[in-house]
Amino acid sequence: MSSSPTLLTRPELIDLHPDPGNLCATVAQGLARRPRQLPPWLLYDQEGSRLFEAICQQPEYHLTRLENHLLQRHAQHVRRCCAGHRGGAPVTVVEFGAGGARKVTPLLQALRPAAYVALDISATHVHTACIRLQALHPQVPMAAVCCDYGHLPALPDHPLLAGQRLGFFPGSSLGNCSPAGAVALLRHMATLLGPGSLLLMGMDQPRNVAAMEAAYDDAAGVSARFARNLLLRLNRDLGADFQPRHFAYQAHWDAGAQCIEMALVSQREQVVSVPPLQTVVHWDAGEKLVTEHSYKWGLEQVQAMAQQAGWRGVGRWCDSQDRFSLHLMEHGSLSQC
Ligand code: AVJ
Repeated sequence: MSSSPTLLTRPELIDLHPDPGNLCATVAQGLARRPRQLPPWLLYDQEGSRLFEAICQQPEYHLTRLENHLLQRHAQHVRRCCAGHRGGAPVTVVEFGAGGARKVTPLLQALRPAAYVALDISATHVHTACIRLQALHPQVPMAAVCCDYGHLPALPDHPLLAGQRLGFFPGSSLGNCSPAGAVALLRHMATLLGPGSLLLMGMDQPRNVAAMEAAYDDAAGVSARFARNLLLRLNRDLGADFQPRHFAYQAHWDAGAQCIEMALVSQREQVVSVPPLQTVVHWDAGEKLVTEHSYKWGLEQVQAMAQQAGWRGVGRWCDSQDRFSLHLMEHGSLSQC
């Protein structure tokens, strides 16, 4: 093993957060839809990011544990695929929606990448996470980028991003998108990552309805708190006066669409003031605000969507019961490993 010098730099935070005017326009648009629906990135203020990490530890939420086992088990396979790719130069791992950056460890250990760049909407959360991770992996230069990666025009022009890129998109986060939105996002990621890049994506599979509904409505109530935190965030950032207790959390499986729909349902007829919108928002009793969707696709469907976006399968790994899968893909070339 070569002994490279230890890097003691503090990971930089590159802040490309959408401006507040953008937040206001996004909320106005979402509340004008029927049913009302806001984009999932709004869930991840600092408290939302903390609550999401707590969701990942709930016994009902199996995704994170399954994915971590798969990553530990197959990180060396991923390494071998990367080594056989474009001359095997060390890759820069670019994680989409890194949050607390707790999923990438098996990759950092196996790949010893040229750099690690964590993209997330929650600036403090992701920056703190990178600082913690940097101490554990002093040889891998790191940076945090605060952004809405779905609308980021390009990755920042930064020396850490100069080399070949391996996108890392864990946690089944693609499931937040509709099928058409998923293809568009995968295309967008190809554009961000650049020609010849790789993408490692973790995806949850559909399974029995009760287990899926429990995963999104845990007994400890963390999922419900996570959704209601969206209202608190709108109160704080837009001066709105939502009363979270007058909205009930609900997660149900939509068999037609193949997704869990998470929503806050107004428990009474009520009026909420959102000052920047210059109009009050009226809610009927039973009217819902969709906070997010979590689509569950079979392996073939994931592969088909990725293919439509120009990604070709290089490797695919599943647990023994086909509950979770890792997909390694390459953009625009046919090589298999
Ligand atoms: C981050 C979109 C992958 O859909 O499982 C979990 C979000 N929300 N529980 C998921 C989520 C409530 C999560 N993703």
